[in-house]
Amino acid sequence: MWQAHTIIHNGKAIPFEEARIHPLALGVAFGIAVFEGLRAYRHPSGSFTVFRLDEHLDRLAQGMKVLRLADPPSKDTLRDAVLEVIRLNAPDEDAYLRVQVQIEAMGMMATTGPVGWIAAALPRERSTKFATGLAATVSSWTRLPDNAMPPRIKASANYHASRLATLQAKADGYDSALLLTQRGKVSEAAAACLFLVRDGVLVTPHRGSDILESITRDTVMTLAREHAIPLEEREVDRTELYIADEVFLCGTGQELVAVTSVDRLPVGDGKPGATTRRLQTAYEAVVRGTTDAHSEWRTAV
Ligand SMILES: Cc1ncc(COP(=O)(O)O)c(C=O)c1O
Repeated sequence: MWQAHTIIHNGKAIPFEEARIHPLALGVAFGIAVFEGLRAYRHPSGSFTVFRLDEHLDRLAQGMKVLRLADPPSKDTLRDAVLEVIRLNAPDEDAYLRVQVQIEAMGMMATTGPVGWIAAALPRERSTKFATGLAATVSSWTRLPDNAMPPRIKASANYHASRLATLQAKADGYDSALLLTQRGKVSEAAAACLFLVRDGVLVTPHRGSDILESITRDTVMTLAREHAIPLEEREVDRTELYIADEVFLCGTGQELVAVTSVDRLPVGDGKPGATTRRLQTAYEAVVRGTTDAHSEWRTAV
């Protein structure tokens, strides 16, 4: 498998191992950073495209605004850097991309800069659970509320909560944690959004459910509408997870992966369901570009 050897830091391409930031910089000390995880997919012809690059950079800009970062990098600068870091690393397989913007100096609670950024390309294989599905548990850790640490922005510090839930799930013998909001409604997984199927209707927690407004979630909803699958965005109760015919998670990292049990109760017949498989196939075609549909979602490298 290919290895990352070059990273772009503040506009300069440098050896991957040489990227540095001071341990007392606010990006490290308080986790004052926002990031995006993206994927570049290899088409069967050998060319690469980045999936929904513009939407990822728009969400990053929202995060920089909410954190009130001073003089943040422009969308054009970051877009060029993402494409350039892929070319420089010359992957021969799909790549996982990270764009991150952080405060790079020491400061006080209200310090807003100086802001630095990186663009990186890393190898990352598809999850082995893509085919088989995951065993999930409803975590006793709850999802972050919008009025404390807004989960709508992809802030690095938010992942402390995701990590606690994942550590607990793994310690208890599960693959993955599902989190409820502070009001006890289903929110999402530690690093992925969630869908379920009930009576032929695809259901996902609405945007007021303390979710990250996931780009994959939006992709799945668009594909569902195009495949005439009935769709509801609404509040979801915990017990709906136990009686659903299908449950799946979605995100750039995990892509679409079935949840085959929740708290040891089988979901449906305990195997990835037909709607999940149908959407997985449609998703794979649009991300890899083996269909002409949604060419606006794929940026050529
Ligand atoms: C907490 C959380 N929710 C949802 C997602 C899925 O978001 P996206 O589809 O934009 O990758 C992620 C992605 O990493 C995430 O970290």
